[in-house]
Amino acid sequence: MELLLNGKAAGAAQVVFCWGEPCPPPYGEQVERLISAGRFRPQEGQVKALETEDGLLILAGKPEKEDARLVKQLLGRAVRLAREERAGTLEIDLDSWPGEMAGAELVRAAAIAAWEGNYVFDRYRSKDDPGLERVSIKRSGEGLERAFQEGDRLGRNVAEARDTINRTSRDMTPETMAGWVLELAKDGPYEVEILDEEALRAAGAVAMLSVSAGAHNPPRMAVLRYRGNPEHPDDVTGVLGKGLTYDSGGLSLKTKKGMITMHHDMSGAAVTAAAFDAAARMGLPVNLTAVLPMCENMLAPQGYRPGDVIGTMDGKTVLVTSTDAEGRLVLADALTWAIRKEGAKRLVDIATLTGGAVAAFGPLIHAVAVEDTELIRAVQEASDTSGEPVWRMPMLADYKSYLKAEHADLANSSGGAGPSMINGAMFLREFTQSLPWLHIDCAGPSWTEKTDGCRFWGATGAGTALLFELFRQLAEK
Ligand code: BES
Ligand code: MN
Ligand code: ZN
Repeated sequence: MELLLNGKAAGAAQVVFCWGEPCPPPYGEQVERLISAGRFRPQEGQVKALETEDGLLILAGKPEKEDARLVKQLLGRAVRLAREERAGTLEIDLDSWPGEMAGAELVRAAAIAAWEGNYVFDRYRSKDDPGLERVSIKRSGEGLERAFQEGDRLGRNVAEARDTINRTSRDMTPETMAGWVLELAKDGPYEVEILDEEALRAAGAVAMLSVSAGAHNPPRMAVLRYRGNPEHPDDVTGVLGKGLTYDSGGLSLKTKKGMITMHHDMSGAAVTAAAFDAAARMGLPVNLTAVLPMCENMLAPQGYRPGDVIGTMDGKTVLVTSTDAEGRLVLADALTWAIRKEGAKRLVDIATLTGGAVAAFGPLIHAVAVEDTELIRAVQEASDTSGEPVWRMPMLADYKSYLKAEHADLANSSGGAGPSMINGAMFLREFTQSLPWLHIDCAGPSWTEKTDGCRFWGATGAGTALLFELFRQLAEK
C-alpha cells in the first residue's frame, strides 16, 4: 500500500465526516435522508458506504470521544469498509473533520489507521487479497509533514510486527526471528548484534538456556543499539521484549486450547523491535538498547523440570515451581545483560507474561508495573498520545512472600497462590538492581479474537505506538 499526504486522488473513493451540520455537499441532501430514515447513525460512530455519481463515498460518524484511541478506531472502521467495498484507491478528507482535534494529531492517526485498517494476514492463504493500493490523506495547513511521516512509519511497523507475530512457530523460530530483526534494521541508523547459543552460554544466560533446553530450535538473543543522544552517551534506556516463539508450557503443560495461539508469545520482542526501528528512523534524540531474548518453551528429556533449581546470569538461584512461568526467567537474564553489558540506566520491559493480566484487563488494556515517578508520568503521557490504554498494578512488597523458596533464593511462581500478574512483576523486580523500571504485561492486548476498527483476529501489534511515544517522552525529559 502506498500512503500519501495530499496526493493526487482522481477517481478515488472518499472518506468524509458527517456529524457536523450540515453534511458536506454535493451529497448533503442524500446523507440527510439516510440519517432521518435511521439508516446512517453518525452520532453512534457508524460508518456507511454510499454509491454516488462520483464514485464510492464512505460516510464516517462521530467518535464517542475525541481522544487518540477512539479517533483512530473510527478512522480504522472507515478504511476497513473502503477495503471491503474494494475501493482500490482511497482519499481520507480530513478537511471535513467537524471536531476539535489538531491537524497534526488527526493526520498521524489517519496514517496509522490506514495501515492498520487495511491490514490482512494472507501469508498462508492460497489466494491473496490485495486490498487498498493507495491511500491519500487530505488536510490543508502547514507543518503536517512530520506527523504524517511518523504515522506512516508507525503504521508500517505495526503491520510488520503483526505479520511476524501471526506467523506460526515453525515458520518463525528464534533463528528466523533474528533474521527478521536484521532485515528490519537494514540501512537503518542502528546496529544489531545476534547472540547464538554458544554466546549465550559464555554470557552465563543459564536461566534462558534452561527454558530453551527442551527445544530443538536453538535460542537467539538480539541486541539493538541506537544512539540518538550522543551528547549524553551514558543515558541509555534498556528495552527488553519477551520473545518466546512458542510456549507449550513445558512439563507444566498448558491445556489443549491454551497453547493453540502460543506462537504469539514473542509479541513483546516483535513490538519492541518495531517501535525501536520507528524511533531510530524518525531520529528521536534518545539512546536505546533493546535486548530481545528469543527461544521456545518445549518438552523433551533434556528440558528443565518442575522442582529444578537453576541459576541466572545475575547469580541468584531460582526454584522452578512451574516451567510455564518461563517468560520471567528469560527476561531475568535479559535485564541483567542490559544492566551489566549495556550500562542501561533505566529499564522497560514488555511481555506476554501472565494469563492473569488477560483476566484482569482483557484485550484492550496494558497492565503496567512502575514505581518511578518520572516513568509513571512518561507512560501515562505515552498512553494518552498513542491511544493505548494502561493501568497500574499495585506492587505491595508483602506479596514477595509468594515467591519464597526453601532451598533457593526465590521461586519462579507461587504455585497458583495470589495474583499471578503481580507475582510475575515482583519476580522481574528482583532483577532490576533498583533502577527506574517499567514493566508492561501485554498478554491481553497483544492478541485479539474480536474485530473492530484497527484490530482483527490475531496479532494486534499493540505496544508499538505506546513504546514509540514513551521513547519520545524520554527524549523530551
Ligand atoms: N505466555 C504465558 C502467558 C499468556 C497466557 C500470554 C495467555 C497470553 C495469553 C506465560 O508464559 C504463562 O504461561 N504464564 C503463566 C504463569 C504462571 C504459571 C505463574 C500463567 O499466566 O498461567
Ligand atoms: Mn508460559
Ligand atoms: Zn509465555
